Amino acid sequence: MSCESANPSSRVFGGVSLADVLAHPRLVTPLYVYDLDAMAAEARSLIQAFDDESAVSSKANNLVAYAIKANAAGPIVRELVAEGCGADVVSGGELTLALDCGVPPERIVFSGVGKTNAEIDLATGAGASGIAAIQVESLEEIERVAIRARQMNRVARVSLRINPAVHIDDLATHEYIATGHDEAKFGVPIADVSAALDRIANLPSVRLVGVGAHVGSQLTAVEPYLAAARIVFGLAKEVRVRFASLQFVDTGGGFGIDYGSGCSVRPADFIRAVCSLKKDVGLHDLGLYCEPGRSLVGAHGVLVARVIQRKISGHRRWLMIDAGMNDLMRPALYQARHRIVSVRLDGAEENVRYRVVGPVCESSDDFGVHELPESLGTRDSDAVMVLDAGAYGYSMASRYNGRALPTEIFVRRGVIEAWIERQPNDAWVRDRLSASPFGA
Ligand code: LLP
Repeated sequence: MSCESANPSSRVFGGVSLADVLAHPRLVTPLYVYDLDAMAAEARSLIQAFDDESAVSSKANNLVAYAIKANAAGPIVRELVAEGCGADVVSGGELTLALDCGVPPERIVFSGVGKTNAEIDLATGAGASGIAAIQVESLEEIERVAIRARQMNRVARVSLRINPAVHIDDLATHEYIATGHDEAKFGVPIADVSAALDRIANLPSVRLVGVGAHVGSQLTAVEPYLAAARIVFGLAKEVRVRFASLQFVDTGGGFGIDYGSGCSVRPADFIRAVCSLKKDVGLHDLGLYCEPGRSLVGAHGVLVARVIQRKISGHRRWLMIDAGMNDLMRPALYQARHRIVSVRLDGAEENVRYRVVGPVCESSDDFGVHELPESLGTRDSDAVMVLDAGAYGYSMASRYNGRALPTEIFVRRGVIEAWIERQPNDAWVRDRLSASPFGA
């Protein structure tokens, strides 16, 4: 993350002075700033780790499928695709977006426990022979994919997404974003795998091309990832005896980033460990897929918010900013902590503890306590930067409380290359007043 200042009075992000951003008459806060170069570098280093570690024979079959849910902004998806990423999608909307961003259908996997028939049709019907794989998560879904594909006269490629039952305490993540434990709704439970394989073998309109798992997100240790990979690889060894069609194993996403409390494992470390395990168990000829979202984009986006005012009552100090839980939901939803710093750099000024809160009418609209310059909130130009907001920030934003969605700007080599303009509040008003007679 690049936020040291070249200009001594303002922070810089992605080579752009945030004071300049704030002074621009068309750029309204709250506003996300994304560093496209840094995201591209992140993708390159992960793909490089794959290439270094994989057996030459399976190189062409490896895939870094960017989990679009982390940040679906067109410039970001296109950037990562240009670096060689495919896509992991979880809805018809994301699938359409990936295709529109130029991801070839054969480099897209579709995850999720509740795909609708329309979404299955979209995936099966994409391109000349459908997407790389629909990740099937239940026996019932296998049946449904088979029926839809048969009706379309196609053979749908499927990958069996198992639930490896990796225990939640071992995951080193928040319980809401752990998905690979046996109480989670995700994946085919181990006990049902053999029945699932029998179904796939007997249904001519589906072809098994992969087996995989995704244990959870924001993993800060390699071991739970490897534990799930061991199970997936063990299964793949058995499965390939019966299914000559098997092409890849998929170990999911989940690589953590450092939100300030430490994460010493890099995405490439996960990949190196998993590639070496794959080699050890004799699966070097199968491709390896992974589905990173956060690690590619999280550290390379910030949320810039103006300070509306401070509120001081006795020993309590609040700092009200113009970004709220509707703009960045992670603190409210997962008690996630994002570092917050002042955009203005005054050098000598002393920091005090402020509880930083947004304007939304919920107590959970709270970004936590941060050490910030005492005088913040006394000048109109005062603003803060919420760090590590590139993943699951805008993508989870809402218009709650009648608020506008935040502006987004995309920076390359110190220049604002593109932006997505803030949708004005009257768009929300128009929408809420747009009810029309039904059936007219
Ligand atoms: N693959 C599957 C099947 C997933 O469910 C997810 C994330 C990913 C890949 C990407 O995981 P990542 O590499 O980004 O950790 N909103 C939460 C995170 C939810 C993740 C859901 N699934 C947050 O803000 O922390």
